[in-house]
Formats: sequence, C-alpha cells, structure tokens
Amino acid sequence: MNRVLFPGSFDPPTLGHIDLIRRAASIYDEVIVAVLVNIHKAGRYPMDRRVRMLEACCAGMRNVRAIGYDGLTVDLARSLDIRVILRGVRSAADFEYERGMAAANGMLYPGLETIMMLCSPGLEGISSSTVRELLDWGRPVNGFVPDEVIPFLDLSGNNIV
Ligand code: PNS
Repeated sequence: MNRVLFPGSFDPPTLGHIDLIRRAASIYDEVIVAVLVNIHKAGRYPMDRRVRMLEACCAGMRNVRAIGYDGLTVDLARSLDIRVILRGVRSAADFEYERGMAAANGMLYPGLETIMMLCSPGLEGISSSTVRELLDWGRPVNGFVPDEVIPFLDLSGNNIV
C-alpha cells in the first residue's frame, strides 16, 4: 500500500492545504495528514481543534486520516512506517525552506523522501498566516479556508491559546 504523510501546522487549514490533500488522495492509497508543532510559529488554535478542522474538511475523502503529533516529523514517519512526506510549494521562497527541511529530515531518517507538490494556480496567495491576520482585523476569510473550517474559527479577533 502506498502511503504518504502530509505534516504541517494547519493553523488553520486553508483551501491550499485541502487542494493538496485532495490531489494526493488521488495518487496515494492513504494520506495521513499530521498536525505538528512549528516552533517558529506561535500557535493560534489548539492541536486537537486543528485535527477536528481537518477531519471536517476531509470527511468525504475515505483514504485520508488526520492526526496530531507532538514531536519530530521523522519520528512520526518512522512510527507509522512511512517513507514519503508530502509538502506543498507556492513560491521560490517556499522551495528554499522546504529544501532545507527535506535535507534535515533526510539526515535524521535516511531513505525518507520528501515529495513537493506545486499549489494549484490561483491558490498562491493563500496561507494560514494570512488567514490569522485577516481574522485579527475582523475580516471574512471565505475564499481562503474551506466552509467546513469557518465554525471552528474565533471570528471575534481574539486569539485562542
Ligand atoms: O505548515 P508548516 O508550519 O510549514 O509546517 C512545518 C512543520 C510542522 C511540518 C515542521 O515545523 C515540522 O516538521 N515540525 C515538527 C518538528 C520537526 O520535525 N522539525 C523539522 C526537523 S528538525
């Protein structure tokens, strides 16, 4: 069975993430979407809420599973016996960041492959950080996140820790 691990912060999941998950689900037998902690980003939503957002978005995709994990991506990949990681790329800046992370993960888990998938045209301007900023300014985020995510967001502009 061909399985792929899609790790990310998903804080919150965006239309860009769901587009990648849908496309990966048409290629792989199973896609495991994992919410992990990015120590370089202050989290807005608790991990379990992010997992529930992903579950709501992927309810119609039967070969997609969402989980949360507190640790290194390589350790999760090992524990799941998965050798392929999926990451999305919107720009050259994304690519440089991903190249470094793929190299580090490859050193920590020899044989691990990182597959980079280009985002679909029109989705380059979408990011979780943009969504968080719009929310902070009390602006709607329709067109940035799937409808299923909206009920989980704090639309008041106050951060949830
Ligand atoms: O959506 P993001 O913020 O770009 O995802 C980054 C993420 C969560 C995949 C990355 O920060 C990560 O893998 N975090 C877990 C710790 C880890 O394995 N770091 C990389 C090697 S030191």
